[in-house]
Amino acid sequence: MRFRTLGKTGLEISEVGYGAWGIGGKQWQGGNDTDSLAALRRALELGLNFIDTALAYGEGHSEQLVGQIVREAPGKVYVASKVPPKNLKWPAQAGIGIDQVFPYEYVVKCTEKSLRNLQMETLDLQQLHVWNPEWLERDEWRRAAEDLKKSGKIRHFGLSLNNHEPDSALDVIKTGLIDAVQVIYNVFDQLPEANLFPLCVERGVGVLARVPLDEGALTGTITEDSAFPEGDFRGWYFRTKDRLRDVVAHVDPLKKDLTGVAGTLPEIALRFCLTAPAVSTVIPGMRRVSTVESSCGVSKTGPLPADVMAILRRHAWNKNYYD
Ligand SMILES: NC(=O)c1ccc[n+]([C@@H]2O[C@H](COP(=O)([O-])OP(=O)(O)OC[C@H]3O[C@@H](n4cnc5c(N)ncnc54)[C@H](OP(=O)(O)O)[C@@H]3O)[C@@H](O)[C@H]2O)c1
Repeated sequence: MRFRTLGKTGLEISEVGYGAWGIGGKQWQGGNDTDSLAALRRALELGLNFIDTALAYGEGHSEQLVGQIVREAPGKVYVASKVPPKNLKWPAQAGIGIDQVFPYEYVVKCTEKSLRNLQMETLDLQQLHVWNPEWLERDEWRRAAEDLKKSGKIRHFGLSLNNHEPDSALDVIKTGLIDAVQVIYNVFDQLPEANLFPLCVERGVGVLARVPLDEGALTGTITEDSAFPEGDFRGWYFRTKDRLRDVVAHVDPLKKDLTGVAGTLPEIALRFCLTAPAVSTVIPGMRRVSTVESSCGVSKTGPLPADVMAILRRHAWNKNYYD
């Protein structure tokens, strides 16, 4: 496993991190705690030392599993979590004030709850789970971040950005108060490369590349007949026949263009993310030992060559299935 520095925090984190949404259950059905714990343990054995979870993932269940694994780990494992929006609306919506989403006391209380779930004293990175640039000048988030750092409950503070809106963080990054951003970045959504990544490099802000496999579309296993278990988020994300057809219509030519390139489609998709120097870590969701082994193995292969990147550039696809 190779390591990268998380912006100006100085934390040396594994370039493949662990996306812990799926192991919370509820919104990701079909897994179980035994498999999740085995997957987490294998990830740590393979050198992974960064886990992204959230209070909202399985209402604390993901944090509890992560805490269990981190406590038994022989070495340091960095944990990032998130404060859910108080109004439970993802993504943040224009015109909705921060008082309804992240009031000061609420941010502090949620952080304390996450620490109890994790059974940890300090979070390495606490993030707001949504961000609305209209809140830039508001005092609530600034004071909460500062006080949580002062009290030792968090070490660093970051934002998880709205889906497909990387530029929504440009102004807040310029305040110098943000240590890391979490953004959708994958073969289909290459938008962060235009403005966000150069600014993050310039200002020393860490980048967590989330949803690197487009919720499964870039695993290459979705078909026109794919079905997901009752209550599974992906049943909503890929909710129409048209969407499934469109995914296949984009993934099939991608696979064809990649004929002869070493690695599976998801491995190449993860390498795509790691080829961007601005990316500190890519955080695929992984609930099984086999996916952990495949994803962590990507680190040793290094950045993609220019000819493969040129192919992938042509497969950018502007869509928003979260709407
Ligand atoms: N708003 C936010 O802040 C937000 C929103 C979404 C996600 N996130 C974060 O980003 C993380 C990643 O996103 P995600 O989990 O939603 O989706 P994702 O990483 O795009 O896709 C996850 C899917 O990819 C599969 N997979 C992973 N590695 C693979 C490999 N090497 N080969 C084949 N399949 C592989 C997983 O399989 P198995 O599960 O079967 O192992 C899972 O079905 C989340 O876990 C969470 O930490 C944050």
